[in-house]
Amino acid sequence: MKDELKDLKFKVNGKKIELKVNPKILLLELLREELKLTGTRTGCEVSACGACTVNLDGKAVRACSILAVQVNGHEVVTIEGVADGEKLHPIQEAMVNHGAIECGFCTSGMVMSARALLLENPRATREDIKKAIQGNMCADSGYVKYVEAIEMAAKVIQGK
Ligand code: FES
Repeated sequence: MKDELKDLKFKVNGKKIELKVNPKILLLELLREELKLTGTRTGCEVSACGACTVNLDGKAVRACSILAVQVNGHEVVTIEGVADGEKLHPIQEAMVNHGAIECGFCTSGMVMSARALLLENPRATREDIKKAIQGNMCADSGYVKYVEAIEMAAKVIQGK
């Protein structure tokens, strides 16, 4: 038996979206396959690697562990919505300038975890930063450059 489609209204990257979805589809599938927002990565698909991290009402969440229907009435930001037009977000700029990118697979998830942290606490300490990205697996960098780049971004955001 086919699942009855459900109405879904939410905002993604500031844009209102209205569509009918299978109630079993994951937010990750909706973003990547229906909305073609492929900057959100598919990694483990079991909520273990952080590659699919997006911001839901400003909080970091894993799109592979949320049903699309659960974001009804909410606001999602993906990596595509982080920059301000051509201007990179301070976190993105710091990562580029600090060489905090190796293969890049985990980068969008890292940015989204860092963005959620700095939205909540622009004065985040090094320990806060480590904690915020500890669920974002990176096979290459050893995290040090990511942590340093996020510290640099926090300073920019604070106007230091
Ligand atoms: S793909 Fe979602 S946590 Fe790994």
